[in-house]
Amino acid sequence: MKKKQKSKAGQKTKKGQTKSKRKEPLWMWAGLGICIVIGVTAYFYYQPPDSLSASATPTQIKLGEKLFAENCLSCHGSGARGENPAQSRGGQKADGSYLAPALNGTGHAWHHPNEMLFSTVKDGSVAKDSTMLGFKEKLSDDDIVAVLQYVKSLWPDEIQVRHAMRP
Ligand code: HEC
Repeated sequence: MKKKQKSKAGQKTKKGQTKSKRKEPLWMWAGLGICIVIGVTAYFYYQPPDSLSASATPTQIKLGEKLFAENCLSCHGSGARGENPAQSRGGQKADGSYLAPALNGTGHAWHHPNEMLFSTVKDGSVAKDSTMLGFKEKLSDDDIVAVLQYVKSLWPDEIQVRHAMRP
């Protein structure tokens, strides 16, 4: 019974509309729909960095240290001192490939806002030829936050304050 009623109602509206009238609102709704989807995605995407701005818990730092040793140390070095601590800001090797920079506050990483640090670890470097690949298949958002909280815990107090004050 219910089904029949529904199809009847559908027919009614179809009859009531002419083709030219329907065209514009459809585009409008599609556009609005896309905006909502992008908005909601962006909202949820940028949630984890919010927890990155919060002070780290000791459990988070401990987990982050373990995850760093397993996933990042091979390139970024122990204590995140960089692949070549003499070149803490990274740079290029003789063969043109990139050196993994220090993440411990002596390099450039702390100049980046939380969102960018997070997306670099999740989705990989924006440089296409970089060996810094994304970890989204391997690490959860919470894991990424933990690893970055560990990295941030290595920064001197002054840098932590300056980073937190960034717009
Ligand atoms: C295979 C080597 C490799 C591994 C493994 C790796 N990285 Fe990287 N990472 C790099 C290189 C090389 C760069 C610099 C080039 C670039 O940014 O594209 C980089 C850049 C970065 C940056 C940006 C630093 C800046 O100064 O802009 C962050 C943050 C970072 N890595 C975090 C991590 C974390 C956290 C992990 C582990 C979960 C990790 N990386 C694992 C090679 C690696």
